[in-house]
Amino acid sequence: MTSVLKLTRWGAARLTASPTPQLDSEVLLAHVLNCNRAELYARIDPPSWWQTWRFRRLIAQRGRGVPAAYLTGHKEFFGLDFLVNRHVLIPRPETETIVKRALRLIQEWHLPIVYEVGTGSGNIAVALAHHLPGLRVVASDAFKETLAVARRNARRHGVEDRIELVHADLGQHITEADLVVANLPYVPTDYKARREIFFEPAQAVFVKDDGLALYKQFLIQTKFRLAVIELGPWQLDRLLPWLTSNLPHHAVEVVRDESGYVCGLQLTAPGSGDGSDQLPRQ
Ligand SMILES: C[S@@+](CC[C@H](N)C(=O)[O-])C[C@H]1O[C@@H](n2cnc3c(N)ncnc32)[C@H](O)[C@@H]1O
Repeated sequence: MTSVLKLTRWGAARLTASPTPQLDSEVLLAHVLNCNRAELYARIDPPSWWQTWRFRRLIAQRGRGVPAAYLTGHKEFFGLDFLVNRHVLIPRPETETIVKRALRLIQEWHLPIVYEVGTGSGNIAVALAHHLPGLRVVASDAFKETLAVARRNARRHGVEDRIELVHADLGQHITEADLVVANLPYVPTDYKARREIFFEPAQAVFVKDDGLALYKQFLIQTKFRLAVIELGPWQLDRLLPWLTSNLPHHAVEVVRDESGYVCGLQLTAPGSGDGSDQLPRQ
């Protein structure tokens, strides 16, 4: 029997194409041993031959590019554990900045309800509902298999009674919203992505028109007072002039993380931030 240390080193040495070989190896062994990474090296019993066999198989799959989160079925986001499978995008750290901005706006404006479009695993909706116990979220996605995962995550975190899941294209179900949060697909179809991305659902990642086709449609069609959308920094040069032409009276603010990295935009409709047509404060 082989020790945990030898196995994780063995695994990491085989994941030469991964940017995080040691981390991946530890995550996969912890998954097989049904413990967390912190407990891994404190274990007294060495892994059994069956556990070792399962771990070697996972390393082989990871070596072929399958993301570790799809192999374990879990991904941490905003301090919460989310179930993921190949029907949903694996939650990304930059999306936490979008959640933080939405939390700030909801609290500042005392909003009782928000809309989230393109909910995927439900990570944004669940994180918002988990942190604000009075909040209701209407979360939508165009794909039923995706909504099934979001439903499981809402139940897992005990917020299913405050999250309404809607099967809808973009914002077609929204008649008027104080706040809409969206992380729609925004990677250009010709982008030379890392091979891991091709294991994720294409409809959650790639979009034509330099990655902007869905956002342009969504922003024109949806009636909102505030919107927080995730974007890649490279898209500002193309989207900002488009916004000036198509939503000329909306105020636009770039949303950045703590290190200054551009994560998205906040849009405020005219009359929503000052004057008589303000958002309802309680
Ligand atoms: C980039 S993923 C975001 C998932 C999740 N909200 C997150 O932050 O990780 C985009 C999501 O938008 C959904 N989507 C794609 N096209 C859509 C459309 N036309 N209307 C609504 N949702 C759509 C995809 O199914 C996917 O779940």
